[in-house]
Amino acid sequence: MTKRPQPVENSPPLLEVRKLYKSFGTPRRGEKLGPIIAVNDVSFSLASGECMAIVGESGSGKSTLARTLLRLVTADSGEVLYRGKDILTLSNAEMRVQRRNLQMVFQDPYASLHPRQNVRRLISEPWYIHPDVLERSNRPARISQLLEQVNLPEHFADLYPNQMSGGQRQRVAIARALALEPEILILDEPVSALDVSVQAQVIQVLMTLQERLGLAYIFISHDLALVRLLASKVAVMYRGAFVETGPTEQIFSNPKHEYTKTLLASSPGLNQVSANYKRVEQVTLRN
Ligand SMILES: Nc1ncnc2c1ncn2[C@@H]1O[C@H](COP(=O)(O)OP(=O)(O)OP(=O)(O)O)[C@@H](O)[C@H]1O
Ligand SMILES: [Mg+2]
Repeated sequence: MTKRPQPVENSPPLLEVRKLYKSFGTPRRGEKLGPIIAVNDVSFSLASGECMAIVGESGSGKSTLARTLLRLVTADSGEVLYRGKDILTLSNAEMRVQRRNLQMVFQDPYASLHPRQNVRRLISEPWYIHPDVLERSNRPARISQLLEQVNLPEHFADLYPNQMSGGQRQRVAIARALALEPEILILDEPVSALDVSVQAQVIQVLMTLQERLGLAYIFISHDLALVRLLASKVAVMYRGAFVETGPTEQIFSNPKHEYTKTLLASSPGLNQVSANYKRVEQVTLRN
């Protein structure tokens, strides 16, 4: 297996999460947290250009954690330091500014793309909220470049979501997430809603983007073979907590926690998927 790019040593963490908690439901008397502790004392750091995967069974809290990082849901307590600054304490106006650095791609590209907007409009949308990022006159060229980066032909700018395959729609969602030049992409099951036949296009684009743009990813997935391919480190989440974190190969070849062992045992064929992908230097982006 080809080695993933390793983060530069001693670089300060781009993102550092400390003791994050999020519970749902009203706490009972004498309790600080509600009955469902979806994120339970989670801490980790993410370096520039690094890909951290979060794996764990359904309901373990992966999406809630992702949404808490972006303040789409409000944390109960903890810190989310982006370049040393706690984004959980920012005002809404300050958060709007910061949000351009952290973007999210959701599982279902149908739900996340407005059906009556064409791709040009969809990709431009972030610039309506952050007009100072890019001058109007430079936007058409940037749209073409973004389409090229997700391996879609330029004429796709005129298409609507229902004229595209799921894989193409998801690549449009990725292009839109890139419009503000974020440093971190949070990918919540980005290919699990797609046919296996188109998953590879999206994964290939994600790999290429990471190498070209040095993006950091938080990659949430049930697919351990993909995790092994993409991630440089893995966090195993169980009932809201990170029960094991480590370099990808260590987690896969020498899991310590019982739950990690169970997870790996239920995922046969882990070694086969990587043969379907090529590293960026071998890839030709089609237009
Ligand atoms: N808005 C909410 N209100 C109440 N409970 C919630 C809410 N969102 C999530 N939960 C609960 O929090 C826990 C974690 O859910 P979450 O969606 O984060 O899990 P997940 O790991 O993303 O699961 P999956 O793999 O199925 O996507 C679950 O018990 C869920 O029922
Ligand atoms: Mg989820």
